[in-house]
Amino acid sequence: MSHILVTGSTAGIGAEIAAELTRQGHRVVRHARDESRAARTRAAYGGEVVVGDLASLDSTRAMADALRGLDPFDVVVHNAGWSSRDSTRPVTVDGLERTFQVNALSAYLLTALLPLPARLVYVSSDSITRATLRLDDLQHERSWTADAAYADSKLALTALAFAVSRRYPKLLCNAVHPGWVRTQMSGDEAPLDVAEGAATPVWLATSTAPDAMVTGAFFHDRRQVRLNPQAYDHQLQDALVERCAALSGVPLPPADA
Ligand SMILES: NC(=O)c1ccc[n+]([C@@H]2O[C@H](COP(=O)([O-])OP(=O)(O)OC[C@H]3O[C@@H](n4cnc5c(N)ncnc54)[C@H](OP(=O)(O)O)[C@@H]3O)[C@@H](O)[C@H]2O)c1
Repeated sequence: MSHILVTGSTAGIGAEIAAELTRQGHRVVRHARDESRAARTRAAYGGEVVVGDLASLDSTRAMADALRGLDPFDVVVHNAGWSSRDSTRPVTVDGLERTFQVNALSAYLLTALLPLPARLVYVSSDSITRATLRLDDLQHERSWTADAAYADSKLALTALAFAVSRRYPKLLCNAVHPGWVRTQMSGDEAPLDVAEGAATPVWLATSTAPDAMVTGAFFHDRRQVRLNPQAYDHQLQDALVERCAALSGVPLPPADA
């Protein structure tokens, strides 16, 4: 039995990842953005629920503080994600572009603040195929559309996952596209249900099959795929880590010797 944190597990794919891991007998901690959602999640599923708004650095730090009070996690699934439906650039209480903060910077901050688990799974997206990582405009101050901000934030998340995998080679640390799944984010037209979307993240979190026991890879349907060459650029990965450390005020733990 593993102790597993799944972020963004009040709804959608994350709720199903948490449910499936619980069915498999793991001890799962869910995550909700606020107390009222946490109460609803506890009522629906039982178990432990941690609270943290990933659009706030203070709230994300408080969430990490609360999580550090629990037993260390064997696995962390960074599933939470957000996409704007508006046409104006959203800015958080920290003055940062919200999509980047929720989808990439918060995952960096939690990775930096929590004891390193044996496995890390970062839920990315195949939208990275059309993304560009611009370190000189990470937060789209020059031009912003919801679609570009989402795709670019997922490319940043993927590059971070690969940077973490290089820094801590003893861990299994991978990114995954869950497929196009019917959720509040994607709507009713998507072809897959949440069980299909959760399958590969759950497999990466738990399987001991040789194909799952790798690190620094991007998966879709339990197969490795390469979707954007920028994600594999070591210099870009390291520069992104430095930028996230500066924005959050928290460095990653020292690299494995
Ligand atoms: N659905 C797809 O087709 C698809 C495709 C590719 C990748 N993905 C990725 O898969 C992951 C799950 O997406 P989904 O489709 O299941 O979306 P979803 O139903 O909207 O679920 C997203 C989860 O993230 C949480 N979240 C969003 N903003 C947050 C914040 N500021 N603080 C804390 N939690 C926050 C949501 O909480 P609330 O319920 O409070 O909003 C929810 O639990 C995301 O990373 C998404 O980008 C999805």
